[in-house]
Amino acid sequence: MDWVKDFYEGSVRWWGEAESVIGERDRRRVALLHRLLGDAPKTILDLGCGSATTAAAFAQAGHRVVGVDLVDRSGFTAPLIAQAVPGALRVLQADFYEVDLGERFDVVTYWNGFGIGDDRDQRRLLRRIAAEWLTEEGTAMIDVFNPLVWAAWHGDVEHRPAIPEAGYHHDLFERNGFDPVSNRAELTWADAADAEERFTQYLRCYSPADLRLLLETTGLRLHRIVAGEEPLDPAAVHTGHLPLLEEHYEYLAVLKPD
Ligand SMILES: C[S@@+](CC[C@H](N)C(=O)[O-])C[C@H]1O[C@@H](n2cnc3c(N)ncnc32)[C@H](O)[C@@H]1O
Repeated sequence: MDWVKDFYEGSVRWWGEAESVIGERDRRRVALLHRLLGDAPKTILDLGCGSATTAAAFAQAGHRVVGVDLVDRSGFTAPLIAQAVPGALRVLQADFYEVDLGERFDVVTYWNGFGIGDDRDQRRLLRRIAAEWLTEEGTAMIDVFNPLVWAAWHGDVEHRPAIPEAGYHHDLFERNGFDPVSNRAELTWADAADAEERFTQYLRCYSPADLRLLLETTGLRLHRIVAGEEPLDPAAVHTGHLPLLEEHYEYLAVLKPD
């Protein structure tokens, strides 16, 4: 995982400003959690919280949230914390493999980041969620990268022009690759104006069936999947399910303690 800190520090330079305001995606995540678990106030641990905009949206919705991220984005998170009800939002700069939180939560979330390591790393994190952070009746909600969609994007190159008025100040190229043996997406981002600014991100993808295997011995089980609007029962048959076959590059795994 040597690339992780460099990549995400680079991404703060590239997208930090654009991603520092609460937006539609954050509100959608709040609405989804309310749909699945109800809107009564909860304690939430948000792993890999980035600029903490989703964590701040949950705090605005009446929950108490602790966000953890490896990278220092305090310049962006400080205004969000200042706007929240005192005590409703805390953001720690820490490695979630190391951090000692000393409390349990009703919900543990990890949006758009699971799969940054290898299987052993992912299992280590899942075990920590089950053994140290979730309450007995708690729920983990984790976005998981969908291999079918990433594989279909292999070879695609996208130009992402700068949009300064939206906080995107760099002209970037994104190249997608997919390794079908390790089931890993490989995204290389390059700054068109600076040959030195080039990072590759590796994302281990899991089909729901793979995820179930990964969960064995972690203390968590797959309860539901959400890809698109309706939650799916992972034990049922889903032949031809287009949202998972073609449409969503990630799905939400809803996990419960064993
Ligand atoms: C793709 S970003 C997603 C950010 C945010 N959850 C969102 O959806 O916008 C993944 C985040 O995980 C963080 N991260 C990666 N490894 C981490 C670790 N070991 N401990 C804490 N945070 C980590 C990165 O710094 C990055 O901010």
